[in-house]
Amino acid sequence: MKLAQLAGQKRIIICAGSGGVGKTTLSAAVGAHFAAAGRKVLVVTIDPARRLANSLGLTHLSHSPTRIEPSLFGGGESFRGELWAMMLDMKSMWDTVIERYATPGNRDRILRNSFYQYLSTSLAGSQEYMALEKLFELRNDNRFDLIVLDTPPTSHALDFLNAPDRIINLLDHDAVHWLLKPYRAAGSTGKKMLTAANSVLINGLARFTGAEMLNALAEFLLAFERMYEGFVERSRRVKAILRGGDCMFLLVTSPEDNAREEALAFRDILQRQGMPFGAFVINRVVTAPGDPPPENALPGMIRESLPPGTSGPDPLSVSRELAALSQLQQSLARRHARRIRELSEKAGPGAPLFRVPVFDRDVCSAPDLRRFADVLFSLDS
Ligand SMILES: Nc1ncnc2c1ncn2[C@@H]1O[C@H](COP(=O)(O)OP(=O)(O)OP(=O)(O)O)[C@@H](O)[C@H]1O
Ligand SMILES: [Mg+2]
Repeated sequence: MKLAQLAGQKRIIICAGSGGVGKTTLSAAVGAHFAAAGRKVLVVTIDPARRLANSLGLTHLSHSPTRIEPSLFGGGESFRGELWAMMLDMKSMWDTVIERYATPGNRDRILRNSFYQYLSTSLAGSQEYMALEKLFELRNDNRFDLIVLDTPPTSHALDFLNAPDRIINLLDHDAVHWLLKPYRAAGSTGKKMLTAANSVLINGLARFTGAEMLNALAEFLLAFERMYEGFVERSRRVKAILRGGDCMFLLVTSPEDNAREEALAFRDILQRQGMPFGAFVINRVVTAPGDPPPENALPGMIRESLPPGTSGPDPLSVSRELAALSQLQQSLARRHARRIRELSEKAGPGAPLFRVPVFDRDVCSAPDLRRFADVLFSLDS
């Protein structure tokens, strides 16, 4: 089975995996492949390092979809569709959601609130939550018939699925209700809330956190309360989208242990939650080297690679170094093959698994992406 067969009919492809395994590269390559094949693709990336923007010939990606120049990928008949890309910018996404869903009276209170500033820029899980909100917003945009969603560089891949619930639970936690009780009783005037709250416990807490911080938190939560149901509802609908038949997860991993275990755990959670696992993509696999050139051919090869009249390294030492390198690559290749076999056994029969080789350099230009995509889509699972 080839990846194009697996992914051909999908409208949402999510690339998830541990930090640094190649999620952003895979998202862009999958997007470029299907755009070349004629589809209208939007790659939604979360790449603070901006490697994707650079590889698409842009200095930066804006947080609204930007059309990528087809000529970057050869254009003409070799690129029949459209490739769009956008970068998820957490702060502006939160602002858009608040502007869209908050009541006019609450909007400014929330946007100015200092706890909101923290939530929208730094609270763990915020980015994952917003990635899913964005998916909810974009899925009906008829400019695109495929959305490829890159996922944030979390240290733990599973955070991506858990984060939205964590944010929602945080806002609906017993402690929050407890904290708000005295504020509610005092009525929220927005001013001097803490003195009005008049609770011994709250005043005690304020000594540790600072009254301002506590007031800001309470004000935020009171203003946010009215939007809470909307957040829960959208989160429920996003999950329904993620369970749909036109969505697919690609789980990216390196052949190494930690990433591999996380990918397997991620697949189990997808299965438990009824979300469609597509395939494992094992990236940066070292394959066995070809045979080194015969020793007697080396002096000629060295001579040819040097400017005339210069003397090169001693063929004997080159031959020794080549042999040592080849041995190292062989042992790495054996280790990777073993790890992939284990992954395949643990994943069970029928779990598609694509092995992408490690390239001789980073994937950081459109031709590199095209090469990555060509290799990936030629692989059999
Ligand atoms: N098969 C490959 N061969 C060589 N280099 C690769 C390969 N795949 C990815 N890379 C390089 O590895 C680096 C990390 O890839 P990428 O940014 O896609 O990972 P990521 O999972 O998105 O990372 P993060 O978790 O930080 O978002 C990049 O420099 C990329 O060009
Ligand atoms: Mg990335």
